[in-house]
Amino acid sequence: MPRIAYVDGAYVPLREAAVSIEDRGLQFADSVYEVAVALNGRLFDWAGHLARLRRSLAELSIAEPMGPSALDLVARKLLAKNRAREAILYLQVTRGAARRDHGFPPNARPTLVMTVRPFDMSIRARQQATGIKVVTQPEQRWARRDIKTTSLLPNVLAKQAARQAGAFEAWMVEDGTITEGASTNAWIVESDGTLVTHPADHNILAGVMRGTLIRLACADGFKVEERAFSLQQASAAAEAFITSTTAPCLGVVSVNGRPVGKGAVGPVTLRLGRLLWGEIERQTGYRPATIG
Ligand code: PDD
Repeated sequence: MPRIAYVDGAYVPLREAAVSIEDRGLQFADSVYEVAVALNGRLFDWAGHLARLRRSLAELSIAEPMGPSALDLVARKLLAKNRAREAILYLQVTRGAARRDHGFPPNARPTLVMTVRPFDMSIRARQQATGIKVVTQPEQRWARRDIKTTSLLPNVLAKQAARQAGAFEAWMVEDGTITEGASTNAWIVESDGTLVTHPADHNILAGVMRGTLIRLACADGFKVEERAFSLQQASAAAEAFITSTTAPCLGVVSVNGRPVGKGAVGPVTLRLGRLLWGEIERQTGYRPATIG
């Protein structure tokens, strides 16, 4: 796969792609981003990512670098230039480059960068069987986690702590409740089969995969409750799982080394996973060889 990036109007080899060292993305993390997957060469839930990007920009008063249809065109052109079939599309918009000064620069033009890298989604399909381990970390992020900004240092530290503990994800705990993972949304399944996930308020990022799963699960007859749950409730849950664009629905088999439910991926998680893989196939035509 050739590695071509998009930087402010130009398609350039990744190694040559660069922005100003005075870019506010670098200086202040004054920028927002999106991560989408392309499967079979087609972007999954792309409209949801574009809508969230526009919302993030509006919340921070960063100008849109171009309209949604132009953005869509650039993304598709970049995927084509990279000859990407299974890939992650990364998109970042910063407030632009300007002399360093905390207040908004008067005439900054937003910087838009996009990159594409190969991503084997079949790994996630196989992980459906084994599930993942989670550890908890104190919530250290700011109060507007609904905006997908690149100020991800607390997320980075939490993820690293998880890796060092041999876990896949860190669940952030605030006042006794679990908000979400370092880069995924958190869910539990109660003993009556009710699905519970944190409300999409300012305390979490409203995951696109989260939204898709809520829609699919409700249509499939599941009861979904958007409410905060505690670490104790997670430990006592029948099942738990995570969702994100790059990890559609992975069962959580343990939290802090203590098994959740039977300590294996449960039947509800597997069913929800099948619903999501079905939706992925419907939108993109992609179907992994094995699921679970
Ligand atoms: N992370 N919560 C957080 C804090 C996230 O960073 C993400 C996504 C999610 C799930 O959102 P979605 O379903 O839209 O992927 C929840 C991306 C994948 C990342 O930062 O790489």
